[in-house]
Amino acid sequence: VDIKAKDHHYTIDVGQGVLETIADNLSNQEELESIGIKPNPRLLIITDSNVKPLYADSLEISLREHGLKVQTYPARAGEQSKSRQTRDKIENWMLEQGYDRNTVILAVGGGVVGDLAGTVAYEFLRGIHYIQVPTTLLAQVDSSVGGKVAVNTPKGKNLIGGFWNPSRVYADPRTLLTLDKRNLRAGLAEVIKYGIILDKEFFEYLQQNIDKILARDLDVLTEAIISSCELKANVVMQDPEERLGNRMILNFGHTIGHAVEQASGYKLYHGEAVAIGMMAEARIAVADYGFPEGHFLALNQLVEKAGLPTRIPLDILNKEIIMLVSRDKKAKQGRARFPLPAEIGKMHKFDAAYADFVDNDIILQALDKTR
Ligand SMILES: NC(=O)c1ccc[n+]([C@@H]2O[C@H](COP(=O)([O-])OP(=O)(O)OC[C@H]3O[C@@H](n4cnc5c(N)ncnc54)[C@H](O)[C@@H]3O)[C@@H](O)[C@H]2O)c1
Ligand SMILES: [Zn+2]
Repeated sequence: VDIKAKDHHYTIDVGQGVLETIADNLSNQEELESIGIKPNPRLLIITDSNVKPLYADSLEISLREHGLKVQTYPARAGEQSKSRQTRDKIENWMLEQGYDRNTVILAVGGGVVGDLAGTVAYEFLRGIHYIQVPTTLLAQVDSSVGGKVAVNTPKGKNLIGGFWNPSRVYADPRTLLTLDKRNLRAGLAEVIKYGIILDKEFFEYLQQNIDKILARDLDVLTEAIISSCELKANVVMQDPEERLGNRMILNFGHTIGHAVEQASGYKLYHGEAVAIGMMAEARIAVADYGFPEGHFLALNQLVEKAGLPTRIPLDILNKEIIMLVSRDKKAKQGRARFPLPAEIGKMHKFDAAYADFVDNDIILQALDKTR
């Protein structure tokens, strides 16, 4: 998949075995030059404690066998590592170790590692190259496309960071063989989202192949990852720095999803909360925006088959969700704003925007039906 932003383009390699091509590519001078990296870079693998023994160690060995200078920095696995404290630790360590501008960071892990390593690359000596090696489905279909990098703060998630594109992405579906079921399913929520917002045929492909995906059929996973990256890339390439508003459609399911995720105290994974959010927001679309009932039922069935939750947990109250959605970054004067589907594969466009303000009573009805 080729991504072209204004002054930057890069390739996402998706396929079984692409992990084994990294060392070859990074020791090939022409290859390096073609992605704007100077000869003999010093490499730094940033990974987490789970992914290190699975994929980062063998990558480090193969890079070294190819004569490359490489070290590994493992952060503790988990969202808590996506913090300014961990970022500072890594940057301080890199300064002590004498890393200069001719450094390439390899982010080997899920979305946490991708965002953490991407933020370090964005900041270190005013910006250095980095390469994404996403190892979760979520990271392969979502966080490695779009160039957004950020860390969390106590005031909220993803508040400190920037736009910084990787020089290349290597997404190997074989890494998904070791991923736990719950994380695989959570990533699927975003994959299903792309079908709803952009591509009816892709949605139908997912309906037909959901069992194979859950059984980790690598050919089907490869297809699904490529299509997802292409679909997201088409949206972000039109608007690399999120100025136009067309990226808004990528937030389908996320307004209510984020609220439910937060209200669960992050016990729900992001993808699980997005699955619930898609159900509630699709109900708003059925009630007021002409989204056909039959399309709603098809979405409901696919989300269920994917093993994702479709209902709001009982201990999360409507008023809590309403309070949180009215604070959403898309909200204005306390009124929540939603991108909404017109049919499977197609989003509504409201005047100039891809989201509409929805009254609280309509949101409440949709929430009630999602229990
Ligand atoms: N920058 C973006 O555009 C963007 C987009 C979406 C999400 N994100 C961010 O991504 C993060 C979530 O990413 P995630 O779901 O990948 O979480 P994660 O990185 O925490 O990975 C989930 C768990 O799986 C483990 N793991 C990773 N790969 C594995 C493998 N192949 N086998 C076994 N275990 C493996 C990890 O150690 C971790 O415990 C959030 O912080 C979110 O904000 C960013
Ligand atoms: Zn998401």
